Amino acid sequence: MHILLMGPPGAGKGTQAERLVKEFGIAHISTGDMFRAAVKEGTELGKKAQACMQAGQLVPDDVTIGIVRERLSKDDCKKGFILDGFPRTVEQAEALDNILRELHLSLKAAVNIDVPEELLIERAVGRRICKKCGSTYNIKFKKPVHEGICDVCGGELYQRADDSEATMKNRLAVFHKQTEPLIAYYQNNGLYKKIDGTKSVDAVFDEIKAALQ
Ligand code: AP5
Ligand code: MG
Repeated sequence: MHILLMGPPGAGKGTQAERLVKEFGIAHISTGDMFRAAVKEGTELGKKAQACMQAGQLVPDDVTIGIVRERLSKDDCKKGFILDGFPRTVEQAEALDNILRELHLSLKAAVNIDVPEELLIERAVGRRICKKCGSTYNIKFKKPVHEGICDVCGGELYQRADDSEATMKNRLAVFHKQTEPLIAYYQNNGLYKKIDGTKSVDAVFDEIKAALQ
């Protein structure tokens, strides 16, 4: 199975990708996670990505397409994959079509998790992530048992640098301008599936699974 998860920042792409990976035994490819790992390691890629991410802007297409091309050639992608947060521009979508053609693969669906703006800001600003195992929490919607501590591994929880209200507003503006045109792109090729992302995590997951039938 080869699917892509699109949707505005804070819509629940990462949350649902984690579940889909478990359900279908496929690889999880999040360009955001790849960039954050590169920033942490201080690599050349990290240096290129950091300023864009902090400003809530997109990393340039050539850089992003390059890392996805390389990632999709890895062995673990042979069992299928979920692209989480890629493509985000029409240029990226066209590049993905070319890469898939070269690999003789086709997408099953482009799933858009739809959530209204007020809720997105609340979700992103309230998000906390475990430093050790990466589990995601929310101070409003998914509180850890002990404040600031991961339920799974006891690690310390942190807030992403781009999860402030001000940066979230930029990320949302970028989404409307650069990523929303992809809705028409995937409607035109018949792959588009819109999911109501305001429901519970379980209900959204069930809706995505039904859309993939
Ligand atoms: P990325 O890391 O992909 O961020 P994003 O798209 O802004 O999305 P998020 O990760 O913030 O949200 P999500 O949809 O994964 O939500 P989550 O499941 O965590 O990208 C970061 C940056 O990297 C970009 O701004 C850009 O600079 C760069 N970048 C990445 N990809 C790029 C590309 N292709 N091209 C160029 N640049 C790129 O959930 C959010 C919160 O809500 C959590 O607290 C969660 O617990 C909670 N929640 C989730 N679902 C529910 C629910 N159903 N009910 C209640 N709470 C929920
Ligand atoms: Mg995410």
